[in-house]
Amino acid sequence: MKKLIKNGTIVTAADTFFGDILIDDGVIVMIGVDLVAQGAEIIDASGHFVFPGGIDPHTHLDMPFGGTVTKDDFESGTIAAAFGGTTTVIDFCLTNKSEPLSNAVAAWHAKAKGKSVIDYGFHLMVGDVNDDVLFELPKIIEEEGITSLKVFMAYKNVFQADDGTLFRTLQMAKEQGALVMVHAENGDVIAYLIDKALEEGNTDPIYHALTRPSVLEGEATGRAANLTELADSQLYVVHVTCTEAVEKIAEARRKGLRVYGETCPQYLTLDVSYLEKPDFEGAKYVWSPPLREKWHQEVLWNALWNGSLQTVGSDQCSFDFKGQKDLGLGDFSKIPNGGPTIEDRFSILYSEGVEKGRISINKFVDVISTSSAKLFGLFPKKGTIAIGSDADIVIFDPTVERTLSAETHHMKVDYNAFEGMAVKGEPVSVLVRGEFIVRDKAFVGTPGHGQYLHRKRFEQPLKLPVKESPTLGGVS
Ligand code: URP
Ligand code: ZN
Ligand code: ZN
Ligand code: ZN
Repeated sequence: MKKLIKNGTIVTAADTFFGDILIDDGVIVMIGVDLVAQGAEIIDASGHFVFPGGIDPHTHLDMPFGGTVTKDDFESGTIAAAFGGTTTVIDFCLTNKSEPLSNAVAAWHAKAKGKSVIDYGFHLMVGDVNDDVLFELPKIIEEEGITSLKVFMAYKNVFQADDGTLFRTLQMAKEQGALVMVHAENGDVIAYLIDKALEEGNTDPIYHALTRPSVLEGEATGRAANLTELADSQLYVVHVTCTEAVEKIAEARRKGLRVYGETCPQYLTLDVSYLEKPDFEGAKYVWSPPLREKWHQEVLWNALWNGSLQTVGSDQCSFDFKGQKDLGLGDFSKIPNGGPTIEDRFSILYSEGVEKGRISINKFVDVISTSSAKLFGLFPKKGTIAIGSDADIVIFDPTVERTLSAETHHMKVDYNAFEGMAVKGEPVSVLVRGEFIVRDKAFVGTPGHGQYLHRKRFEQPLKLPVKESPTLGGVS
């Protein structure tokens, strides 16, 4: 059945305008003023913003990590995402060196299929580049549409790859039109600092932050950018937290390199003092890289605004405080890293960003949706409101004032990382390919509605033709 969303303020990364959107068969077929469509269901959006659905380019659903498994899986995680205004997630498919990549991809399909309520794609971790990987990877990129590869420069003896592996992955990505994503921290030095802290009896959560200083994030970011330049490839730095890393990305971009960066709501709003909360509560705020001193936040906001950073991912990676985070009681290095952020990413960015005047409403759409669609091969099917695009739509009430809390969130975890934060604005209804997933703040979706997204390859920016200088004979 056709749907007609009427009288909303439609906002894209480029424009803000008043109008109606006609949806047929899951796709936007008409945008205009005073549209009429026989037999269409009318949805009144007056007084509301109508945004393209959020795209979360960084999630870990149903992921084994630190001796346990993330609490939210593709069902609870995507339901929470939908409540929060997110209609697409791209999750990280983890691999291990002893098994074919295709096994890992099959395992990730099995986790998501029949469970996800919103559309989803995968990034693929590369831990090693050997003959098997060189043989398998082009096939997976082509057949699965997995056009982004993840290399960890940290988590020594777990996920960490060496610089040679990163460089060869960058070379392969250049050949294949894929985008290489890095977790940029110097894992070797961090491993040493952790051992030293524990030997000295420093076991509290705060030492997680103290053993991962921002200079080691900046160093790894700069190293990855240099290797990208050498390989003439493309790089996306995930979860950027600090000034040092922003500066390396900005410098690379000034040189004209295809280097991009993502930050997360936690780094924009929370700071390192949270790790000092008493009764081990600091463990709730253990992320890698860690929360930083507060002054870095302004640098991150400015970087979003001026284009040094392009996206905001949640890095959703949720563990219960009781029964999971407490694996690290008496040893901070055993606290599972990560937090519940998938649901509040969109609203925090709107409230802290647009409402507080740090970014424009169009920039908000860009960082929460459009830029990810472009970088990860989903645009213009996803990431905008345009004729022919999927009808992934958020109807947003900007007047609601509410408080983020575990008591009202939909994630399965026993705490909310942003507990008590006041936000302005709320997604009221959310559609994925023209179907309501959330309607008037109630869940009406179905597990399995979410479709797997076969993504396009990374598009090189257009190279302008170099004008030849005229020859002596006047023939150019
Ligand atoms: O602490 C974090 N970020 N946990 C998730 C895994 C990762 O490094 O992205
Ligand atoms: Zn990471
Ligand atoms: Zn992550
Ligand atoms: Zn459906």
